[in-house]
Amino acid sequence: MGSKEWRVVNPSGSKRVIVTKELPGERWLEILAEADCKVDICTSKDVLSIEEIKVAIGTRCEGAIGQVTEDWGEQLFAALKAAGGKAYSNYAVGFDNVNIDAACRHGIPVGNTPGVLTETTAQMAVTLTFACARRVGEAERFLRAGQYKGWLPTLFVGKLLWRKTLGVIGAGRIGAAYARMMVEGHKMNVIYYDLYPNKALEDYLGAYGEFLKSQGQQPATCQRAETVEDLLREADCVSVHTILDESTRHLINTERLALMKDNAILVNTSRGPVIDEAALVAHCKAHPNFRVGLDVFEDEPELKPGLVELENVVIVPHIASATIWTRQGMATLAASNVAGILMGYPAWNQPDITPFLEGNSPKAAPSILNAKELDISIFNSYK
Ligand code: GLV
Repeated sequence: MGSKEWRVVNPSGSKRVIVTKELPGERWLEILAEADCKVDICTSKDVLSIEEIKVAIGTRCEGAIGQVTEDWGEQLFAALKAAGGKAYSNYAVGFDNVNIDAACRHGIPVGNTPGVLTETTAQMAVTLTFACARRVGEAERFLRAGQYKGWLPTLFVGKLLWRKTLGVIGAGRIGAAYARMMVEGHKMNVIYYDLYPNKALEDYLGAYGEFLKSQGQQPATCQRAETVEDLLREADCVSVHTILDESTRHLINTERLALMKDNAILVNTSRGPVIDEAALVAHCKAHPNFRVGLDVFEDEPELKPGLVELENVVIVPHIASATIWTRQGMATLAASNVAGILMGYPAWNQPDITPFLEGNSPKAAPSILNAKELDISIFNSYK
């Protein structure tokens, strides 16, 4: 099993599944045990290299659960296939670390864990937004350093976001949840940029605007921007929720940062490379009233030179999905993806994955990204 420490659960299981990190909760292990799997879990906190994962796959391995920090591409899918592998699940909703084409070439279904990260990740985007607006990081460092000598009218004056303009880049599940949280709490006017209109979000915020009117209040509005530039020019606060692919790498660069208001807030809980981090450091240095909240970084876990020294930046170590409920739910979904495929179940066909989080889960794999390409049958609840 290589140089790292591993532990085994359900050693008598007839199928072997490797899991490259300890996962929270117990339900996921029960699901794999019910599917007659022996589970080998790496107990090391180190990021495993491709070589180390290949050694762990060995000559017999039916399934694997991996992490966003690992490069699941040609080499690993070839190794998994050669070892009799039939299923892989990312322990994440994002899958930019997975080469889906390579998985398809080797006939390996790839799962992810949507649905359980939505509110939790949106909550972190909200947290970073207000940490920036109210200068929480700076103020806490000041206090801890013993510099507080008494209340002052001018001490850490921040920014009130009430009824200001909110820019949301990528209005999928998480972006839309963030927009709702900000509008309901702070009556902000939303402008979003997405390749596709989000009608459900527009309808929801439209109805909310009507409700505000019925209360004698000014309605909050929601509109889709034609271009990302339009959004950046107008918004007081911008939160990024896109996927990472070649079209979004360095979406926020020097030129686009220059379009933003000098005292705007920029938050990123999506993927680090969506922002050109070196350009961001330069921009923050030149614009001390510009504030940034980051959960993700371009070369994680490394940070670009100069970032940690900046007072106008709030940084946390990729913990947007870190609530117990979410992390246990992710484990349940990842295990259900692998167990479901190994049991020969079809792929689930609905965006609502909550039935898998309850006791009696459907006989299906909850989220298989390449189900169509691999011709995996789709769950039919009426059968
Ligand atoms: C976490 O970053 C995820 O994509 O699930």
